[in-house]
Amino acid sequence: MSQGQFAVVTGASTGIGLELARCCARAGFDLLIAADEPAIETAAEELRGHGGKVDAVDADLSTTEGVDRLYAATKGRRVDALLANAGVGLGHAFLDQDFNRVRRVIDTNITGTVYLIHRVGNDMRRSNAGCILITGSIAGFMPGSFQAVYNGSKAFLDSFSFALREELRGTGVTVTCLMPGATETEFFRRADMMVPASAPPRRTMRLGSRRPASRR
Ligand SMILES: NC(=O)c1ccc[n+]([C@@H]2O[C@H](COP(=O)([O-])OP(=O)(O)OC[C@H]3O[C@@H](n4cnc5c(N)ncnc54)[C@H](OP(=O)(O)O)[C@@H]3O)[C@@H](O)[C@H]2O)c1
Repeated sequence: MSQGQFAVVTGASTGIGLELARCCARAGFDLLIAADEPAIETAAEELRGHGGKVDAVDADLSTTEGVDRLYAATKGRRVDALLANAGVGLGHAFLDQDFNRVRRVIDTNITGTVYLIHRVGNDMRRSNAGCILITGSIAGFMPGSFQAVYNGSKAFLDSFSFALREELRGTGVTVTCLMPGATETEFFRRADMMVPASAPPRRTMRLGSRRPASRR
């Protein structure tokens, strides 16, 4: 019996990734979904309701071991669509951030993402077929005071996507960069970016200024 189309979606436990996985499931794809929490099983349960085969992997994609585990879970099946979406933000001034969390943003959003794309992308190029969707962000187009590392990581992904697309021009592999604007998901709470309604207005740095705007 011939198998249907197969998509791998990272960061599919909640938010944008879960919605992308729903789109794939509705379109008839079998799915391998991943996140770094057991909630990925709940998402898998829901997605199975669309009738396709859905496997879930609970793996930390900020590590090469986690990415390798996800890749191994494809069991050699050809990946028709890779949706590299897992990502994490981090609020507050850079020098006040815990460096372990800073590193996790970089390792998840950049290193883990490009490592996964390198592995799956090579398979796609060999078979001259496949679609890669990378969740960048409009945040990648602007310096993000008080989320400087996050915006920097998305600037990397936006830029990387356009370059990879160009490198694969003329092959059967496509690269698309999804650039959401602000979207209501778990993202802001997880990133410690939620500002309580009672909080005073946040100081913002104006470009070209050496002092926060509210002090001038
Ligand atoms: N929400 C926005 O306004 C917005 C705007 C532009 C771009 N984006 C991007 O959209 C993507 C999805 O974000 P979202 O808004 O849907 O937020 P979300 O609801 O917090 O979803 C993030 C997903 O990524 C997974 N993830 C994070 N770190 C991971 C890790 N180290 N290993 C494995 N999975 C990991 C999360 O699972 P775990 O909780 O298990 O880690 C979750 O499934 C991100 O790349 C984000 O940068 C969001």
